[in-house]
Amino acid sequence: MTVEMSTYVVAEVSQQADLVKTIRLLDVPTAMPGQFFLIWLPGIDEKPISVSNQTSAGTEFTICGVGPWSTAMLQVEAGDRVGLRGPFGNGFALADNTLLVGGGMGVAPLRYLAHRLMEEGRSFDLVVGARDASSLIFREEFGRWGARFATDNGDLGHVGTVTELLSEMLRLRAYDSLYACGPEGMLAAVRVIADEHEMAYQLALERLMKCGIGLCGHCCMEGSGLRLCVEGPVLTREMLDGTAEFGLPHRDGSGRRRT
Ligand SMILES: Cc1cc2nc3c(=O)[nH]c(=O)nc-3n(C[C@H](O)[C@H](O)[C@H](O)COP(=O)(O)OP(=O)(O)OC[C@H]3O[C@@H](n4cnc5c(N)ncnc54)[C@H](O)[C@@H]3O)c2cc1C
Ligand code: FES
Repeated sequence: MTVEMSTYVVAEVSQQADLVKTIRLLDVPTAMPGQFFLIWLPGIDEKPISVSNQTSAGTEFTICGVGPWSTAMLQVEAGDRVGLRGPFGNGFALADNTLLVGGGMGVAPLRYLAHRLMEEGRSFDLVVGARDASSLIFREEFGRWGARFATDNGDLGHVGTVTELLSEMLRLRAYDSLYACGPEGMLAAVRVIADEHEMAYQLALERLMKCGIGLCGHCCMEGSGLRLCVEGPVLTREMLDGTAEFGLPHRDGSGRRRT
């Protein structure tokens, strides 16, 4: 982990959807799938972003423009420099015979996880959900791995939620455990399904983060006191069982409750 900030040149920018771009940086420290870096844009902000792939060709981060920092990130071009600290967090533990469940931007860290599982020859299946086909990022790449898709409006794959697709997959065959990343409502539904099937799971969560090293308390989970930047962002059943606020509204930087 590199706590000090270094700057990195953006080698390439690619676009996956209307408001989603991936930047590729060179010579970034090695990270596990599920770990994240804090990316700094001078004069704007510093935010946590998961690794969406890491190879000898560089490290990729996939960003959706939803607010001031992420919208500014969409303006970054090849040749620009960004500040980076990390990697932070625990990351996913790699396992065999798993099912990966991704929703919305949650597919970004699952993409890197899938690459690593493939490299290690570990078997997995993948279900991915989005609002509609145009916001389903990395669709061709996931399709090559046999992924099944769900869209809310039904314009690709299963009509409905990715958790309905998850239940269907679990009726067809047995998996040893689940990995999931996406909106917290989706993660809460995955947890219920995993409990029904008595399956192990690893869920990647998001909270407001500032320091990234366990000191400021911004990312503490009520009940368990887990610091998502250190003990998370990937939580297992044992970790979530003591956590009161999972799946409920939580607070943003101004103290407002956020769902
Ligand atoms: C561990 C971790 C990993 C993350 N990885 C990624 C990643 O790989 N890619 C990525 O794009 N973001 C990721 N995020 C979210 C990212 O850190 C920022 O919160 C996000 O980019 C918005 O920042 P902002 O300053 O632009 O907008 P803000 O002012 O923080 O948010 C603007 C509005 O958008 C909402 N919002 C925030 N995030 C999302 C979202 N993902 N989808 C829909 N609405 C949202 C907020 O509630 C708010 O209403 C991650 C967060 C964490 C904690
Ligand atoms: S971000 Fe500061 S304790 Fe986690």
